[in-house]
Amino acid sequence: MPWFERPLLAVLRHEYAAAMRFAEDDAAEVMPAAPAAPCQLYVHVPFCEVLCPFCSFHRVRHNESKTKWYFDALRREIRLYHEAGFRFADVYVGGGTPTVDADELIETLELVRASSPVRAISIETNPNHLQAQTLQRYRAAGVTRLSVGVQSFDDGLLASMVRLEKYGNAAQIRERLAAAQGIFPTLNVDMIFNLPGQTMAMLDHDLAELQALAVDQVSFYPLMTAPSARHAMQKSMGLSDQGLRHAMYERILNHLLPSYRPASAWCFSRNEGMFDEYIIDQDDYVGVGSGAFSYVGGAMYSTTFSLKHYCRRVEGGRSGITQRRKLGLKERMRYDFLVRLFGGQLRHDYVEKRYGRAFAVRMAPELAAMRLIGATRHDADAIRLTPLGMYCWVLMMAEFFNSVNGVREQMREHVRTELDAWNEEASVPVASIGRLPQGAKS
Ligand SMILES: C[S@@+](CC[C@H](N)C(=O)[O-])C[C@H]1O[C@@H](n2cnc3c(N)ncnc32)[C@H](O)[C@@H]1O
Ligand code: SF4
Repeated sequence: MPWFERPLLAVLRHEYAAAMRFAEDDAAEVMPAAPAAPCQLYVHVPFCEVLCPFCSFHRVRHNESKTKWYFDALRREIRLYHEAGFRFADVYVGGGTPTVDADELIETLELVRASSPVRAISIETNPNHLQAQTLQRYRAAGVTRLSVGVQSFDDGLLASMVRLEKYGNAAQIRERLAAAQGIFPTLNVDMIFNLPGQTMAMLDHDLAELQALAVDQVSFYPLMTAPSARHAMQKSMGLSDQGLRHAMYERILNHLLPSYRPASAWCFSRNEGMFDEYIIDQDDYVGVGSGAFSYVGGAMYSTTFSLKHYCRRVEGGRSGITQRRKLGLKERMRYDFLVRLFGGQLRHDYVEKRYGRAFAVRMAPELAAMRLIGATRHDADAIRLTPLGMYCWVLMMAEFFNSVNGVREQMREHVRTELDAWNEEASVPVASIGRLPQGAKS
């Protein structure tokens, strides 16, 4: 572990927690103004067949009729943005598991394409949804990137993640991925490292499997643990060894580079021109659906985490947004510093155009600190990450997502009764996966 890891994490935790403080905002009833250029659209589909214990995204059990109600609301909300002048160039559908209802998903994608000059569409899925015919339909609906959540090729780890039974064992996943290759311009595989019980040998095995499959793109996330997921995770998976995280990341870099190039600090692409993760390419993005975040014109927005409230709001002609936070100048600079360098470089011309000379002055402590610890390299045209810097940015981005997860938790807590009822009505009993026992402190 590098010497600065603990202090860096302590500082980030404090700063991001403050930065993510949203307030209920009546003004947020008003949609953000449409930017001049087409922006990015994020569509949140919160339904899953199994609730994995490590996951702190906004998700509920899949329920067929309610899912249809929700997709209908999604399309209404997309139309509202279109009427307000928004146009979308890139679309990212995440979850949850957006592919729980292929017909509904395709109808939604067709709507976006009919009203915007869409150039790329990315969708998330799980290995049990890789039927060839359905994948061809997604491709025909304009999907350019399919992202499959694999997490690991170790059956023991898949079992501890409660994924083995529903999403398939390593051999089945391997076979389905091999069959899915070549259908989309980019096939991405999501993996997690530093899982409880994961050894270096298991990670080597995962890397060997990926190499044998030669997938287009791999996203390797460090395990992030939100307080609300900690109990369920510890119960079924145990605790991870933080001391292994840096060594594991180095092993991933050594293995994947140079045959893969870093598209971000945790996403690696085999070829140029692959479609990468969202939030890097464009400045503004609009999030539709329950529990979605937007960043438009220097302000962050969040939609309601109540699925019922969301559907009813949209049926009443309003967007799902219930919270807003305007970012100050320094916060916007920090956000750009984080997100741009996560993508590998912060170009001087980009900074000059947005902030002029103020950036170098206001961000002097951050710029100097990162250079001093050897995380960044200052070239003539841009600031770039060193391999050590890539690890720093993995930590920083993970902390950023942890703070987002903190917000998700608070908001989900407000609608806990509704989410529990929703889960209980779903076809299979949920037990208490992902919940703290009564009286336990997060
Ligand atoms: C939110 S899921 C949505 C797609 C799909 N349901 C799945 O399971 O892959 C997208 C990815 O987020 C990653 N993820 C979820 N929870 C995580 C956590 N606690 N730490 C690290 N990565 C996580 C997993 O790699 C997962 O594949
Ligand atoms: S990781 Fe599991 S719970 Fe989370 S979104 Fe994917 S399938 Fe759903």
